[in-house]
Amino acid sequence: MSLITWSDNFSVGVEEIDTQHKKLVQLINDMHVMVGSVGRMAVNGAAHTGASPDNHMLSIDHNEMVMAEILERVIDYTDFHFSTEERLMAEYEFPGSTGHVHEHQRLLAIALELQDKLNDGQARITLETMDFLKKWLSHHILETDKLLGKYLNSQGKY
Ligand SMILES: [Fe+2]
Repeated sequence: MSLITWSDNFSVGVEEIDTQHKKLVQLINDMHVMVGSVGRMAVNGAAHTGASPDNHMLSIDHNEMVMAEILERVIDYTDFHFSTEERLMAEYEFPGSTGHVHEHQRLLAIALELQDKLNDGQARITLETMDFLKKWLSHHILETDKLLGKYLNSQGKY
Protein backbone atom coordinates (compact mmCIF):
# COMPACT_ATOMS: atom_id res chain seq x y z
CA MET A 1 0.00 0.00 0.00
CA SER A 2 1.19 3.51 -0.78
CA LEU A 3 2.40 5.66 2.08
CA ILE A 4 0.78 8.76 0.61
CA THR A 5 -2.22 8.67 -1.69
CA TRP A 6 -2.59 11.71 -3.92
CA SER A 7 -6.01 13.31 -3.86
CA ASP A 8 -7.39 16.53 -5.31
CA ASN A 9 -7.32 17.88 -1.77
CA PHE A 10 -3.54 18.23 -2.23
CA SER A 11 -3.95 20.47 -5.28
CA VAL A 12 -2.67 24.01 -4.70
CA GLY A 13 -4.25 25.27 -7.94
CA VAL A 14 -0.98 25.83 -9.83
CA GLU A 15 -0.26 23.18 -12.44
CA GLU A 16 3.54 23.23 -12.31
CA ILE A 17 3.57 22.86 -8.50
CA ASP A 18 0.90 20.11 -8.50
CA THR A 19 2.80 18.10 -11.13
CA GLN A 20 5.98 18.29 -9.06
CA HIS A 21 4.14 17.40 -5.84
CA LYS A 22 2.73 14.27 -7.54
CA LYS A 23 6.23 13.25 -8.60
CA LEU A 24 7.54 13.88 -5.06
CA VAL A 25 4.73 11.74 -3.59
CA GLN A 26 5.67 8.99 -6.05
CA LEU A 27 9.37 9.13 -5.06
CA ILE A 28 8.52 9.02 -1.35
CA ASN A 29 6.19 6.07 -1.97
CA ASP A 30 9.02 4.26 -3.81
CA MET A 31 11.28 4.91 -0.83
CA HIS A 32 8.61 3.54 1.52
CA VAL A 33 8.34 0.30 -0.49
CA MET A 34 12.11 -0.08 -0.23
CA VAL A 35 12.12 0.53 3.54
CA GLY A 36 9.39 -2.11 3.90
CA SER A 37 11.30 -4.72 1.88
CA VAL A 38 14.57 -4.15 3.77
CA GLY A 39 12.65 -4.49 7.05
CA ARG A 40 11.09 -7.78 5.91
CA MET A 41 14.47 -9.07 4.79
CA ALA A 42 15.97 -8.36 8.24
CA VAL A 43 13.10 -10.20 9.95
CA ASN A 44 13.24 -13.15 7.52
CA GLY A 45 17.00 -13.33 7.80
CA ALA A 46 16.85 -13.52 11.58
CA ALA A 47 14.26 -16.29 11.48
CA HIS A 48 15.73 -18.24 8.55
CA THR A 49 18.45 -20.52 9.86
CA GLY A 50 19.04 -22.12 6.44
CA ALA A 51 20.29 -18.93 4.78
CA SER A 52 23.99 -18.18 4.82
CA PRO A 53 24.64 -15.14 7.05
CA ASP A 54 27.16 -13.87 4.51
CA ASN A 55 24.61 -13.86 1.70
CA HIS A 56 22.12 -12.23 3.97
CA MET A 57 24.57 -9.44 4.83
CA LEU A 58 25.31 -8.95 1.14
CA SER A 59 21.60 -8.51 0.42
CA ILE A 60 21.20 -5.96 3.17
CA ASP A 61 24.26 -4.02 1.99
CA HIS A 62 22.83 -4.02 -1.52
CA ASN A 63 19.50 -2.71 -0.25
CA GLU A 64 21.20 -0.03 1.81
CA MET A 65 22.92 1.10 -1.39
CA VAL A 66 19.63 1.20 -3.28
CA MET A 67 18.16 3.12 -0.35
CA ALA A 68 20.98 5.67 -0.49
CA GLU A 69 20.29 6.12 -4.22
CA ILE A 70 16.58 6.62 -3.63
CA LEU A 71 17.29 9.14 -0.87
CA GLU A 72 19.65 10.97 -3.24
CA ARG A 73 16.88 11.12 -5.86
CA VAL A 74 14.35 12.37 -3.30
CA ILE A 75 16.75 15.08 -2.08
CA ASP A 76 17.67 16.17 -5.63
CA TYR A 77 14.05 16.35 -6.71
CA THR A 78 13.01 18.15 -3.52
CA ASP A 79 15.77 20.71 -4.09
CA PHE A 80 14.62 21.22 -7.69
CA HIS A 81 10.99 21.49 -6.58
CA PHE A 82 11.74 24.02 -3.82
CA SER A 83 13.67 26.10 -6.38
CA THR A 84 10.62 26.11 -8.63
CA GLU A 85 8.37 27.38 -5.83
CA GLU A 86 10.93 29.96 -4.76
CA ARG A 87 11.30 31.19 -8.36
CA LEU A 88 7.51 31.67 -8.53
CA MET A 89 7.57 33.48 -5.15
CA ALA A 90 10.20 35.90 -6.45
CA GLU A 91 8.57 36.34 -9.85
CA TYR A 92 5.16 37.17 -8.34
CA GLU A 93 6.55 38.98 -5.25
CA PHE A 94 4.88 36.65 -2.76
CA PRO A 95 4.74 38.47 0.63
CA GLY A 96 5.00 35.24 2.69
CA SER A 97 8.20 33.99 1.15
CA THR A 98 10.50 34.32 4.22
CA GLY A 99 8.69 31.77 6.40
CA HIS A 100 8.00 29.50 3.45
CA VAL A 101 11.63 29.42 2.30
CA HIS A 102 12.69 28.78 5.90
CA GLU A 103 10.50 25.63 5.99
CA HIS A 104 12.19 24.44 2.78
CA GLN A 105 15.70 25.07 4.13
CA ARG A 106 14.91 23.34 7.40
CA LEU A 107 13.70 20.15 5.68
CA LEU A 108 16.68 20.08 3.32
CA ALA A 109 19.05 20.46 6.28
CA ILE A 110 17.38 17.51 8.07
CA ALA A 111 17.50 15.40 4.89
CA LEU A 112 21.17 16.20 4.22
CA GLU A 113 22.07 15.36 7.82
CA LEU A 114 20.26 12.03 7.49
CA GLN A 115 22.11 11.38 4.23
CA ASP A 116 25.47 12.07 5.88
CA LYS A 117 24.68 9.72 8.77
CA LEU A 118 23.40 7.07 6.37
CA ASN A 119 26.58 7.22 4.31
CA ASP A 120 28.67 6.95 7.50
CA GLY A 121 26.63 3.97 8.67
CA GLN A 122 25.42 5.90 11.73
CA ALA A 123 21.73 5.93 10.77
CA ARG A 124 19.14 3.96 8.87
CA ILE A 125 16.00 4.98 7.06
CA THR A 126 13.15 3.49 9.07
CA LEU A 127 9.38 3.52 8.96
CA GLU A 128 9.59 6.39 11.47
CA THR A 129 11.66 8.36 8.93
CA MET A 130 8.97 7.70 6.34
CA ASP A 131 6.22 8.74 8.76
CA PHE A 132 8.10 11.99 9.40
CA LEU A 133 8.39 12.66 5.64
CA LYS A 134 4.73 11.87 5.08
CA LYS A 135 3.62 14.24 7.86
CA TRP A 136 6.04 16.97 6.79
CA LEU A 137 4.97 16.87 3.14
CA SER A 138 1.23 16.65 3.87
CA HIS A 139 1.40 19.53 6.33
CA HIS A 140 3.61 21.64 4.06
CA ILE A 141 1.38 21.16 1.02
CA LEU A 142 -1.94 21.58 2.84
CA GLU A 143 -0.91 24.62 4.91
CA THR A 144 2.10 26.40 3.44
CA ASP A 145 1.94 25.63 -0.29
CA LYS A 146 -1.84 26.21 -0.41
CA LEU A 147 -1.26 29.79 0.79
CA LEU A 148 1.27 30.28 -2.00
CA GLY A 149 -1.14 28.71 -4.50
CA LYS A 150 -3.96 31.05 -3.47
CA TYR A 151 -1.67 34.05 -3.80
CA LEU A 152 -0.42 32.96 -7.23
CA ASN A 153 -4.02 32.39 -8.37
CA SER A 154 -4.87 35.92 -7.23
CA GLN A 155 -2.04 37.15 -9.48
CA GLY A 156 -3.47 35.20 -12.45
CA LYS A 157 -1.04 32.27 -12.21
CA TYR A 158 -2.62 28.81 -12.41
FE1 LIG B 1 6.74 24.71 -0.49
